[in-house]
Amino acid sequence: MKDDRTWVPDGVDLDWIESIARPIPPAAAAIEAAAEPLGVPIVDRHSGRVLAALAAGRRRIVEVGTAYGNSTLWLALGQPADGTIVTIDPDTERTDIARGFWREGGIADERIVQVTAPALDAFAAGDPRLAGPFDLAFIDALKPEYGAYLDALVDGGRLADGALVVADNVLWSGRVARWTQETGGDDRNTAALRAFCEQVAADPRFMSSILPLGDGLLLASWRGAAG
Ligand SMILES: C[S@@+](CC[C@H](N)C(=O)[O-])C[C@H]1O[C@@H](n2cnc3c(N)ncnc32)[C@H](O)[C@@H]1O
Repeated sequence: MKDDRTWVPDGVDLDWIESIARPIPPAAAAIEAAAEPLGVPIVDRHSGRVLAALAAGRRRIVEVGTAYGNSTLWLALGQPADGTIVTIDPDTERTDIARGFWREGGIADERIVQVTAPALDAFAAGDPRLAGPFDLAFIDALKPEYGAYLDALVDGGRLADGALVVADNVLWSGRVARWTQETGGDDRNTAALRAFCEQVAADPRFMSSILPLGDGLLLASWRGAAG
């Protein structure tokens, strides 16, 4: 497994962590093998294992950004066997092959619903498949839209009390922590990710932190509108 795609903080020994982990499921290995040569961005296996652990007991999940369905697969493997995932991505060139990987991973077709549309359009249109309430939301699509995805989840009443919001790439290879208006003024992705992290951290309705794992995973538990 190549880890050069992601930023590894000093002192983190991914090789050791990998050495004690059980092998990844063959379907996840197949996704990695398909995605890597084409440069399709997917969560790495360390983040995948964390997603599976976080999905335990969470029956209804929504995901923004499917690609080849690697994160979807890990979430589905960690969920209860009757859990469902609604996953959103407009790029059918990528998402059309995801279903085959999920089948290979033993996930029943009815557990995963694919919404083929830009996420903000689907949320704004009131797509009934996105009504919620969801027990976990995983955000992994357009970086400048992370804040708007979160707003659609919160303002749309789509989060169950105690729901977990997880967002990938929030450290953006270390650039988010280093970003300043002066040095990174025109870097839209970094600026947006930084604003998103600050937005969540300051919101008393969430208990949140950032795991320096993969490219940075933000975890935020929703305490309800009253905070
Ligand atoms: C980083 S990839 C997702 C990887 C996936 N979560 C995984 O780990 O296997 C980001 C995906 O977001 C999708 N995307 C782009 N614009 C989007 C939008 N407006 N709404 C939802 N998804 C979008 C892209 O097509 C791409 O497949």
